[in-house]
Amino acid sequence: KPRLYSGMQPSADSLQIGNYIGALMQWRDLQQSYDAFFSVVDLHAITVAQDPEHLREKTRRTAAQYIAAGIEPSKSTLYVQSHVPAHAELAWILSTVTGFGEAGRMTQFKDKSSRYGSDATSVGLFTYPVLMAADILLYQTDIVPVGDDQKQHVELTRDLAERFNSRFGQTFRVPMPVIQQETARIYDLQNPTAKMSKSAESDAGVLWLLDEPSKSAKKVMRAVTDSEGSVRYDRENKPGVSNLLVIYAALTGRQIPAIEDEYAGRGYGDFKKGLAEVVVEEFGPVRERALELLADPAELDRVLAANAAKAEEVAGRTLADVYDKVGLLRRV
Ligand code: TYM
Repeated sequence: KPRLYSGMQPSADSLQIGNYIGALMQWRDLQQSYDAFFSVVDLHAITVAQDPEHLREKTRRTAAQYIAAGIEPSKSTLYVQSHVPAHAELAWILSTVTGFGEAGRMTQFKDKSSRYGSDATSVGLFTYPVLMAADILLYQTDIVPVGDDQKQHVELTRDLAERFNSRFGQTFRVPMPVIQQETARIYDLQNPTAKMSKSAESDAGVLWLLDEPSKSAKKVMRAVTDSEGSVRYDRENKPGVSNLLVIYAALTGRQIPAIEDEYAGRGYGDFKKGLAEVVVEEFGPVRERALELLADPAELDRVLAANAAKAEEVAGRTLADVYDKVGLLRRV
């Protein structure tokens, strides 16, 4: 089976539905036909300040949501990044073949560092994409299913793999990003030209997987639309309604034109009520399952430990090859 790798940061108590629609739904489908590795990337999360106790909790919560959303830890390898030390080790080696300017061109870094200011921006935030490249390359990955915002990082990963291979000989498989065009970017419900994000300033436009379903339904009802009053996809002129249509279609597996037809001649109130029901139906069971899993953290930790052992074996082989290739003396 070809190999798949992807991951998410444990940066909040709950995932938001952009994570779910843009990534998790693809993961769930693709795990059937790929040898899939999914990590909770805690080492990435600490590139911005974290409360240590809360980080541990968020890491478990993220893993529980993967499983609740349908990732099967007996079929896929679902583990915590820091449990496999090879990630940090390969990141160091890769940083030595990454250009300073090349890393500086990453738009996510430029956005974040301009928001935080240079003293609050850690060097770890700068080398973040190199660690992400290490995640992917350790597993000889064929495809990386992600949302649109991670595309540039996967492109960098490809460049680093090719550069390393041409300098030291064939070592890494060169991975392909897989981005589902229609759902690659889910927008904030209150600010439908900005990406929905776990770190949004206001919570009003973010749908959380673990929120009380009635709370999410209310947020849908309050979503920003426009004054035209017709349920029609038009990204440019109707970003709010278009975003809701994309979410509706993704969660039901229906086509957008069919949904437009269903709501033709009806107001936004009806449309939002319909979507609110869909959201409640989809997330209610996921939430319940996640809370069940979190009620037994010891069992969850055991599952994560067993999967980390599987990951470590694969990662260790690549890392040993890399150490040899770059000329590090073997410890006998
Ligand atoms: P993160 O934790 O920000 O997001 C996890 C996944 O969710 C996608 N996503 C979205 N998709 C659509 N609409 C949105 N509004 C939206 N918001 C987030 C992201 O594109 C991502 O696929 N650097 C990565 C984590 C990572 C990783 C990796 C991913 C670390 N190592 C190796 C793949 C392979 C990140 O911060 O994702």
